[in-house]
Amino acid sequence: MKNDLYAVIGHPISHSKSPRIHGLFASQTGEALEYTAIQAPLNGFENTVTEFFARGGKGLNVTVPFKEAAWQMAGRHSARALKAGAANTLYQDNGVLVADNTDGAGLVKDLLHNHQVALKGARVLILGAGGAVRGVLAPLLLEQPHTLVIANRTPAKAQNLAALFADVAGVTWLGSQAYDSVTGDFDVIINGTSASLQGDLPPLSVELIGADTVIYDMMYAATNTTFNQWARDNGAKRVYDGLGMLVEQAAEAFEVWRGVRPQTAPVIASLRTLTA
Ligand code: ATR
Repeated sequence: MKNDLYAVIGHPISHSKSPRIHGLFASQTGEALEYTAIQAPLNGFENTVTEFFARGGKGLNVTVPFKEAAWQMAGRHSARALKAGAANTLYQDNGVLVADNTDGAGLVKDLLHNHQVALKGARVLILGAGGAVRGVLAPLLLEQPHTLVIANRTPAKAQNLAALFADVAGVTWLGSQAYDSVTGDFDVIINGTSASLQGDLPPLSVELIGADTVIYDMMYAATNTTFNQWARDNGAKRVYDGLGMLVEQAAEAFEVWRGVRPQTAPVIASLRTLTA
C-alpha cells in the first residue's frame, strides 16, 4: 500500500523545516506517510491545492503568503481557525475542504509545557497586530490570562484586533496601546511582529523588563533573535524563541490528521542542533 501524502505549501518554501519535522514525527510514531514541500505560484494557490487533493493528497500545512487564501477557499473551519481568519492546516472530510489553525495551540503548548510558563491569571503583553498575532489570540485567551494588551506600531490595527476578540470570556482586561504608552507590570511579553526581518525592534520601554519577565519571540534564530538579544541585554533571564512553537503547531496538525500525538521534545532538540 502506498503511503499517505502530506505537504507544506508556500512561496518561497525551500527553507521550510516542516518536511523534517513531520518526517521525524512519522518515523517516531510509525505512521505510514510521506511529507513534501510544494511551492505554489503566487497567483496559483487554489489550483495547486485542488490538484493536490485530486491526486489523493491527505493534508496540507499552509505557510506565508497563503494562510488567508487557504482560509478563504475552505468549505468548513474549526472554531480556532474561524477566529484566526487564516489557516495553516487543510484536509478533506467527505469531499469538503476543512481549514484549521494550529499556530495558537502551538504557542500555548510551548509556553505551558516546554517552558512552564503559567498563563492563567497572567498579565500578558503581545507586540504586533498582523496575521501572526491574530492567528494565536483565540487559544491564548482561552487560557484565561488576567490581562492581555496588544501593542502595535499602527495602533488602529491593535484596536481592531482587541475589538474582534472582546467577546472571548474570562479575561479581566483586553486592550490595545501604542508602544510608547505601554506601562505596567507584565508577566509575559510576546513578540509577534516581523520587525526583526528588517533589523528593527518594536520601540518598547526597557522598564517593562524584570528578571522574572518571560520574553517570547514567535520568530526563531540560531542564537538570539534581535528582540531576544535586546531583552537579554536589558536583564531578562527567561527568554525563549519560537522554535518550540513551530514544532508544537506541527504536532497539533499531525494529530488533527492522524489522530496520533507525536513527542515534540526530541524533535525540538534535533532542530536546535541543526540551527545552531
Ligand atoms: P505577519 O503575518 O507576520 O503578522 P503582517 O500581517 O504584515 O505579517 O504584520 C506584521 C506585524 O509586524 C505588524 O504588527 C507590523 O506593524 P504595523 O501593523 O504597524 O505595520 C509589525 N512590524 C513590521 N515591521 C515593523 C517594524 N519595523 N517595527 C515595528 N513593527 C513592525
